[in-house]
Amino acid sequence: CDSPSVISSQRLADTAEDADLYHEFNASLEFDYFNSLLINTMDEESNYIELGGEFPLEENEHFNKLQVNTLMSDIQVPTNVYNKDPDILNGVYMSEALNDVFISNFQKDPTLTWQFFGSSTGFFRLYPGIKWIADPNGVVTFDCRNRNWYIQAATSPKDLIIVVDVSGSMKGLKLTIAKHTINTILDTLGENDFVNIIAYTDYVHYVEPCFKGTLVQADLDNREHFKLLVEELQVKGEGKVKNAVKEAFQVLNEATVNVQGSLCNQAIMLITDGAMEDYQSVFQEFNWPEKKVRVFTYLIGRDTTFAENVKWIACNNKGYYTHINTLADVQENVMEYLHVLSRPMVISHDHDIIWTEAYMDSSLLLMTTVAMPVFSKKKETLSHGILLGVVGTDIPLLEVIMLAPRHKLGAHGYAFLITNNGYILAHPDLRPLQLSHEVVDHIK
Ligand SMILES: *[C@@H]1O[C@H](CO)[C@@H](O)[C@H](O)[C@H]1NC(C)=O
Repeated sequence: CDSPSVISSQRLADTAEDADLYHEFNASLEFDYFNSLLINTMDEESNYIELGGEFPLEENEHFNKLQVNTLMSDIQVPTNVYNKDPDILNGVYMSEALNDVFISNFQKDPTLTWQFFGSSTGFFRLYPGIKWIADPNGVVTFDCRNRNWYIQAATSPKDLIIVVDVSGSMKGLKLTIAKHTINTILDTLGENDFVNIIAYTDYVHYVEPCFKGTLVQADLDNREHFKLLVEELQVKGEGKVKNAVKEAFQVLNEATVNVQGSLCNQAIMLITDGAMEDYQSVFQEFNWPEKKVRVFTYLIGRDTTFAENVKWIACNNKGYYTHINTLADVQENVMEYLHVLSRPMVISHDHDIIWTEAYMDSSLLLMTTVAMPVFSKKKETLSHGILLGVVGTDIPLLEVIMLAPRHKLGAHGYAFLITNNGYILAHPDLRPLQLSHEVVDHIK
C-alpha cells in the first residue's frame, strides 16, 4: 500500500494544481506574504517592513529543536529573483492553499518532517515556517530549482555520456571550468539516471576504465567516485573529438539494443574549447535522421574562434549550445539542458513519485524526500505540459521501515526499502545497492 508520505505528497500536488487552475493571473497583484528572510523585521519607526511581518516562532523537538511555526508555511526567494515579481506574487498567492494541507498532513502523519513546494518561478514554500539565514556573504543562493529532489521530479530519467576535451589547449582555468561543469552535471543526476564519462585527446579514454563501454547508474556512490577521478584529469596532446563522440554514440546505441539504462532521454554532453576536424560524418552515421541522441555542447573559455562549430553540433542534434566563460557561469548554463529534458507527461497526468537517495539530516537521521511534479491543468496550457513546480515531503527512513509487518519477518528477517527501479533506499547495512531486474520483478 502507499506510504503516508506518498499520500501526503499526492495531496499537496492535487491542491497546488487545483489552486492554479482556479487562479487567474493578475499582473498588478499586490500581496504581502511572509518572506522567510525578512519575517519579524521592523524599520526605525517600529513598523514591520514589507514582506517581513510578525511571524511567531517556537522551538520544536520534532524539527531538530529549530525555531518553527507549525501553523503556517513561509516563502524563501533566492537573491537573484525579484521577490515582488508578478510571477512570484501570483504563485505565492495561489499556493497559500497548501497551508491547510501541510497542517492536516502533519496531523494525519506525525512522522513527516518538512513539507514544501518548490515553484518553477523560483520561490520555495516551506512548512513549518522558519527564519531563513542568508549566506555569510549576505546573499541567498539557495534555489529550490537546483536541488536534486526538484530536478529528479521535474525531468524524465536520462542516459548521459559526458565527453570532455583534455587536450593541451584546455590547460589552466579552462580545465578547472570543465571539471566544475562535469561536477555540476553529475549533481543534476539521481539513481533513475545513467551516466559515463569519456575524456579525449588524440585518443579516447574512460575516466573509470572499469566502466568502459557501459552506462552506470548515477547513484550517489558512482557520482562521488566519478568526481574523484575527474579531479585527477590532466591535459595533454591534441584534441580529436570525432572518435570520442563515436564511442559515446556506440555506448548509447548498445544500451538501447540491450534494453539497459533509463530507456528514456539519451544525451551526449560535449565539453570542449573547440572542435576542428571533420566530425560531421559521425553524426550522420550514428544520429541522423532520427536524432534520437541529443547533443549538448559547452564551449569553455574566452576564445570563441570555434563557437560556430560547437554550435553547429548542438543545433544539428536537437541539443543546446552554451558558452561558459567563468566558473560563475557554470551553474546557470548547466541547468539549461534540464529545460529541454523536462517531463512531457502532463497529458497522461501521472504524478511520477520520486524517492530521493537517503541522506543524513542535521541530527544524523537517515532521511528521504518523496517528491512529485505539479503541472498546470489550465485548458490553454494542457498540451504544452507546463510545470508549475515540485512538491515534497521529508521523512526519516526508520519510520518507513516501521511500516513493515515485523511479525511476518521471522527471526533472521529484516525490512528494506526498494524503489521501482531496483534501488535500495534503506537496508540494515545502509549501503545503497543495485539489484538485477529479475530480483526486482520477483519482489514485486
Ligand atoms: C489585481 O490585483 C489588484 C491589487 O491587488 C486588485 O486591486 C485588482 O482588483 C486585481 N484584479 C483582478 C482582476 O482581480
